Amino acid sequence: MKRLVEELDLRREASLYRSRRVAESPQQPEMRIDGRRLLAFCSNDYLGLANHPDVVRAMQQGAAEYGAGSGAAHLINGHTAAHHALEEELAEFTARPRALLFSTGYMANLGVISALMGRGDRIYEDRLNHASLIDGGLLSRAKLLRYQHAELGSLQSQLESGSGGRVLVATDGVFSMDGDLAPLPALGRLAQDYHAWLMVDDAHGLGVLGAEGGGTLSHFGLGLEDAPILMGTLGKAFGTFGAFVAGSDELIETLIQQARSYIYTTALPSAVAEATRVSLRIARQESWRRERLNKLIQRFREGASSLGLPLMDSLTPIQPILAGSSAQAIAWSRQLEGKGMLVSAIRPPTVPDGSARLRITFNANHSDRHLERLLDALAGLRGESA
Ligand SMILES: Cc1ncc(COP(=O)(O)O)c(C=O)c1O
Repeated sequence: MKRLVEELDLRREASLYRSRRVAESPQQPEMRIDGRRLLAFCSNDYLGLANHPDVVRAMQQGAAEYGAGSGAAHLINGHTAAHHALEEELAEFTARPRALLFSTGYMANLGVISALMGRGDRIYEDRLNHASLIDGGLLSRAKLLRYQHAELGSLQSQLESGSGGRVLVATDGVFSMDGDLAPLPALGRLAQDYHAWLMVDDAHGLGVLGAEGGGTLSHFGLGLEDAPILMGTLGKAFGTFGAFVAGSDELIETLIQQARSYIYTTALPSAVAEATRVSLRIARQESWRRERLNKLIQRFREGASSLGLPLMDSLTPIQPILAGSSAQAIAWSRQLEGKGMLVSAIRPPTVPDGSARLRITFNANHSDRHLERLLDALAGLRGESA
């Protein structure tokens, strides 16, 4: 254990130490955290549904009907009418024949990739893909190659020089730490040219982009043929918890038979499924939430660029400000906290070395006043260093 103490000390010295805060209020812009009132710009609750009264009520009613826990895996007797109905609604929402619930997005990515791919197969992943896609690739024992971020030329030359086995191209739809979109139309074409399956992890696009929040694929007008495997999470724009995979009947049946993170785990509580059915409906119907987000994003970008802040190429609610060093990102985050604002510093290995950043995210419930407070606080950061 002494080794661990030394390693932890090294982490602290490199400004890479991570610690948790304790929230004492629901997820919402104005939160009580560690005994302080803070204005938060860091959650993934983009549509402001995590504490929506109808969603909370549905969870309460779901618990009253099904109890607190599901008590077993889906393949034993933990799969309820609530899960089943949600899967059907998610299939309809994504315009795919079937959908399958997983307990988390992390588990969905591990389960899908390791069920479909194995030794002798090839997986191509964007360098900036979420850790769970990368870990799924590693777990599968297939050959894992990473192409330059959103660079089709880099992917194509890797595809060109590979041979044999099944081929999977996996990408985030919206990159979680950068907020930019994967070039999905071109990726879909390349995947088809090389007889590869395209898998899109749309954790940050669903609910936010496209008509009715149909996500990045819907934003680009793409469907099942272009990207046969779609993974979505429920703990972000939909405000609850869990994840799903949507695709063909044979994909879903294969996952039910072979995805170990689906088979060997307890089904998520039915109350969560009931709450998600309501939040999915609200997310689809209340397009004012997406419009509000777009307004906030546009005003933020105008304000931040007139302050000369180093914005990234993002039109989504993920609006990072590049700091460079971890020490600088932490210093900025602390300065903002001193002004009553919570914006998290994202550091390596979550992002590449030298690209630590503030990850600012917006929520449809942020008010104009909240945005002004953020911009005022950011204005004070100029010229300050660690
Ligand atoms: C792109 C992406 N994929 C997958 C996940 C994992 O989803 P979950 O939090 O449901 O495990 C996340 C974030 O958590 C993510 O940002």
